[in-house]
Amino acid sequence: MEKNFPLRELNTFGFDVKARYFQELKTMDDIHHLIQNPEFIQCRDAINRVLILSGGSNILFSNEIYDGFVVYPNLKGIETLEETDKTVMIRSYCGEVWKDFVDYTVAKGLYGLENLADIPGKVGAAPVQNIGAYGAEVKDAVYQVHTIDLTTGKIKVFSNDECHFSYRNSVFKAPVRTRRATSIIFAVDFILKKHSELKLDYGNIRNYLINNNITNPTIKDVAATVKTIRAEKLPEVGVVGSVGSFFQNAIVTNDKFLELKGLYPEIPSYPADNNFIKIPSGWLIDRAGWKGYRENHVGVWDKQALVLVHYGGGKPQEILDLMKKIQDSVKEKFGIEIRPEVNII
Ligand code: EPU
Repeated sequence: MEKNFPLRELNTFGFDVKARYFQELKTMDDIHHLIQNPEFIQCRDAINRVLILSGGSNILFSNEIYDGFVVYPNLKGIETLEETDKTVMIRSYCGEVWKDFVDYTVAKGLYGLENLADIPGKVGAAPVQNIGAYGAEVKDAVYQVHTIDLTTGKIKVFSNDECHFSYRNSVFKAPVRTRRATSIIFAVDFILKKHSELKLDYGNIRNYLINNNITNPTIKDVAATVKTIRAEKLPEVGVVGSVGSFFQNAIVTNDKFLELKGLYPEIPSYPADNNFIKIPSGWLIDRAGWKGYRENHVGVWDKQALVLVHYGGGKPQEILDLMKKIQDSVKEKFGIEIRPEVNII
């Protein structure tokens, strides 16, 4: 266990924050030792300050010190569990880097994760917010999720249904939001397909393929296309501080959508669950005039307005102030409250 551990390399926003206590877990034994550690027990039971940190690519530490116990699960390993003529089931432990895991499945010609190429973060965090991009969500490839309780050490396996996946959400997300971490995801089993099932209809994937004269795309072409489109729109991790989308897309009633459509006929939209309509918050923020805005060490990415960036040397409060200004301005212009997608701790 480490004290006053620097987290700058462990949050992709790149803020210079520290953890009062920090422990990396590399094995199941490490987890069993952790739950007997007196500092851990104190943080868990007395002050309720335990944070499970994974790739740090969806987190904003709002204080310069996290006054509790940061647990960093980092178990490695990938195994093929079962193979039929149509599918392959693969287990990945939580500490594998998500984009490397996707590349591994793409290299094997297994379908299901190719649209999720190059998303930062680690495998253990992927189910927590049901990561999604370019018309795919991880929920469609998750078979089950293995967790271990941080009080009893008992293992519980969640079937896909028990994960209660929805847009950027799952049963695992509430403990992050309420800051009551009770268990760790230590492995995820994925079910991947052996036969082609490419999703090309989202955004400009198909156009990009056509423009590059790829008429019969392979899984590798799709993964490469997603990587190129992402690189054009999103800041490079490790170069500019960010957490990808800072806000969630807005979900509005049909009436609200029609009202806005009357005012802005070009407004983009997608159907959401239960007859609601999803409006890209990036478009709202862009139209409110924020794209490319910069103030001291922070700003709004000039190629995708949903992304807030930290240019280095700043404080988390600067991002929080910018967040509030953007929320107020979108509310004033469109009457929509946009919510952060990042976990603010
Ligand atoms: N748009 C603008 N201006 C902008 C940004 C977007 O007008 O500055 C418009 C675009 O032209 C497009 C629409 O908004 O019509 C949607 O934009 P985009 O396809 O870039 O996707 P998004 O809805 O902004 C979501 C995810 C991203 C994911 C992309 C691609 C959320 C919160 N974000 O963004 O996920 O990569 O779709 O599938 O759902 C992340 O979660 O960190 C993330 C990057």
